[in-house]
Amino acid sequence: MAKYQSARQLAETQPDEPVFCIRPHAVRRAASWFSDNFPGQTYYAVKANPEPWLLKAAWAGGIDHFDVASLSEIRLVRELFPAATLAFMHPIKAERAIAEAYSEHGVRIFSLDTEEELDKILRATGNASDLTLVVRLAVASHGAHVPLTSKFGIHPALAPSLLGRVRQAAAKLGISFHVGSQSLASGAYDAAIALAQNAVVEAGVILDILDVGGGFPAAYPGMLPLPMSAYVDEISRRFEPFLSTGNSELWCEPGRAISAEGASLLVKVEARRGDCLYLNDGTYGALYDAGALDWVYPVRNVSRGGILTDFSFYGPTCDSADKMEGPFSLPEDTQAGDYIEIGQLGAYGRCMATRFNGYGDYAEAACTDDPFGSVFIQDNEQIWEAIQ
Ligand SMILES: Cc1ncc(COP(=O)(O)O)c(C=O)c1O
Repeated sequence: MAKYQSARQLAETQPDEPVFCIRPHAVRRAASWFSDNFPGQTYYAVKANPEPWLLKAAWAGGIDHFDVASLSEIRLVRELFPAATLAFMHPIKAERAIAEAYSEHGVRIFSLDTEEELDKILRATGNASDLTLVVRLAVASHGAHVPLTSKFGIHPALAPSLLGRVRQAAAKLGISFHVGSQSLASGAYDAAIALAQNAVVEAGVILDILDVGGGFPAAYPGMLPLPMSAYVDEISRRFEPFLSTGNSELWCEPGRAISAEGASLLVKVEARRGDCLYLNDGTYGALYDAGALDWVYPVRNVSRGGILTDFSFYGPTCDSADKMEGPFSLPEDTQAGDYIEIGQLGAYGRCMATRFNGYGDYAEAACTDDPFGSVFIQDNEQIWEAIQ
């Protein structure tokens, strides 16, 4: 793979396709941070970015446990890392997927949020006696930019009876939740752990694992996170009562925080109309969140400088919904032929791209410089300046 000092240097080759600028060193740094600072086991949530280069960089940073959501993620990770521990954390799984995960790939950890799913897991594994079963609780997503409250998770009031039944079937019992992705509010983990604790006390069961899920934020314009240590300190403090009542393990499942800083995307401006730039990638490509969720990524024009003004983007397909409102702050003279680097796209970027209108091809190059901003090396003010 070609290597460049920066996206600016890469742009001198005038690529016609969008190019992912990958930064394995940034993924490795994030993975090492979690390995060294999270007071428990980190499972990387593969869905955020399943590309082999990224998985290998996470592994090099000390991550050998993975949260997988599908059979194809399981096959991928198992092939790359035969010794990895895999947790199948989708609460609604196909019975055949559970059976293959258990019998062919050594998966022993499964999540669930209903008795129906428990029965399915037991059938698919032949009532295995070596299962770790993790009950997913529905919790609030206050302060998260991608709420994950409504689709999965058992209501806390109904959790005790499910916990009681799962305790009888499982070698190890866990409880998990997801506070929502890009969760900025301090206190979100605190409140969710309190709910989990109440459910466990009411169920009268011994808990083996508290899994605080994902949600750990990355830095984007208008979404300034606290230092990563603030979230982890909050979790550690809240976990203490669990330690006094037994030998509970603490787990987390970060996706975005491990992968976001690991890649940026170099796109070409194909046309300018007023304050709208027509790019060669968009909402049906790696910029899905920019279009569907109005996500504002950090951007820079690597072809020219100048006074900044606000732009919105159109993607390359013929669909009017292929629009990203932004605002994206770029030099006012930005024009067709310029190259724009879009940062923090290692998470939920390329894995979201479709083939709509025949687009969806990306080139890839390694860049040796730092990402736009890092929640792992700078204090908050510096992150903010870098992201602006
Ligand atoms: C079960 C589970 N764990 C972890 C994650 C990763 O979340 P994040 O990328 O916000 O850290 C997700 C994301 O949807 C998830 O569904």
